[in-house]
Amino acid sequence: MGPRGNILRVDQETFSAVDQFIGETIVEEDEGVRGAVEAAEAAGLPSIQVSPPQGKLLQLLVRLVGAKRILEFGALGGYSAILMARALPADGRLITLEAKPEYAEVARQSIDRAGVGEKVEVRVGPALEALPGLEGGEPFDLVFIDADKVNTPNYFAWALDHTRPGGLIVADNVVRDGTLADPGGDEAAQAQRRLHEMLAEEPRASATTVQTVGVKGYDGFLIALVESG
Ligand code: DHB
Ligand code: MG
Repeated sequence: MGPRGNILRVDQETFSAVDQFIGETIVEEDEGVRGAVEAAEAAGLPSIQVSPPQGKLLQLLVRLVGAKRILEFGALGGYSAILMARALPADGRLITLEAKPEYAEVARQSIDRAGVGEKVEVRVGPALEALPGLEGGEPFDLVFIDADKVNTPNYFAWALDHTRPGGLIVADNVVRDGTLADPGGDEAAQAQRRLHEMLAEEPRASATTVQTVGVKGYDGFLIALVESG
């Protein structure tokens, strides 16, 4: 138990209330991203985009690494792409890969409506099929992995070969209600374990996983810095 072990309410209601307070104070949600949420809902997309505080973390990371080239795995309705694109400089570019054409269409429209259409390219199709088309370009400064979870280690391996030293690779949903610690978890959880085990023997990156709670329940981000050596 932590130093506040006497806390009485630590439950989903509290997690959501705290996210709400963070949203009312330090994390503003502009009209563009609100529009993206509404469009995604109207189109029947699952409401599984990163939370506003998590989105703000992505924006801070984009700025911290001075990113100009971002790759995202999993556009969904474009929410995180809009936020990261807003954190880019005027000449920054973001490519987002989306397997589902109907999601990609919603994302494209919301990204344009949010005013960042010139910075963002939405590529439709399974990410593993899109990757050969990205070979030969400049390395990325930041890669955000948030697509089909069984492939997270595969996407990470590719990202590691295509991110500049000093760049970041971030993966969402690696903790999965704590099943990261369960060797008998489902396929998606086993993939996150494999990712961590890969990183244990990977000198090219230094990583940690931050467990998170909030409107989306209990999960976590893996954050990996690509080493220069
Ligand atoms: C799911 C996917 C996500 O990227 C997420 O953050 C939460 C849930 C899902 O597929 O259920
Ligand atoms: Mg996610």
